[in-house]
Amino acid sequence: MSKAPRACVIGWPVEHSRSPAIHGYWLRQYGIDGAYEKEAVPPEDFAAFVSDLSAHGYVGANVTLPHKEAALRAAASADAAAEAIGAANTLWLDANGALQASNTDAYGFMTNLYAGAPRWRETCDVAMVLGAGGAARAVLYGLIEAGVSRILLTNRTVAKAETLAREFGAPVEVLPWESKESALSACGLLVNTTSLGMTGQPPLDIMVEALPQSAVVTDIVYVPLETALLAAARRRGLAAIDGLGMLLHQAVPGFERWFGLRPEVTPDLRAHVVATLGGG
Ligand code: ATR
Repeated sequence: MSKAPRACVIGWPVEHSRSPAIHGYWLRQYGIDGAYEKEAVPPEDFAAFVSDLSAHGYVGANVTLPHKEAALRAAASADAAAEAIGAANTLWLDANGALQASNTDAYGFMTNLYAGAPRWRETCDVAMVLGAGGAARAVLYGLIEAGVSRILLTNRTVAKAETLAREFGAPVEVLPWESKESALSACGLLVNTTSLGMTGQPPLDIMVEALPQSAVVTDIVYVPLETALLAAARRRGLAAIDGLGMLLHQAVPGFERWFGLRPEVTPDLRAHVVATLGGG
């Protein structure tokens, strides 16, 4: 067997994952003798697959839908982000062969936010987060870690927002979906974590005009890259940050673990991944 390290992304389905494009680019860019594959693994086989990653020839893996919660359960130990978010997206084997888990989505979201709006924190006493799915959990964790003391969480299904507010505690306040616009004037940051605005989904209908001029708007949707939300924010002169950067940055810690080099998120990487988006 080759000594070149191999990693993979495990999903079901896995065909649409962008991770091979990102990691494949870095492997070529840095001239690393390694590989990054796709593994389509059904839910019933996931635990067995990751319980013996090395038998499959891997030093680690990314995990995507629907396996992120199962990945956390399968690991011998997990970092604080994965524990708090309740899901893991990055796995690796430690020196003893034990499976370790991390969630790098919050890191990816926050790094992208700082890259696009380095001073966002100075004008953000209150943030608004739209949506209460897995992505919202990562965003809440990141914002709380960054010290945002008031986060207005709003979701079509209010019970899901209430569950998150109970879990994440005091900084998170639930706002009815119907009245979200009334609170925008106090918000320094607006984050869309819903699927609204994604190609094939209904648009997100929200009046960004109600935000203060210093506000930052970010969308985790990246197909299309420029969502109607971001376009409206830019028209109003607000800082607008697309979701592709989060995807690129969340990949950095895994690559470093598996291949021993911390890779850079560059405009060239971004262009490479954008080119793959068009192809579907
Ligand atoms: P992810 O894990 O990527 O966050 P998810 O768990 O499917 O994905 O969450 C999708 C989010 O988009 C949810 O907050 C969902 O709202 P519900 O909890 O009410 O389902 C939100 N969403 C999807 N379609 C929506 C719509 N038509 N209107 C409002 N919110 C919508």
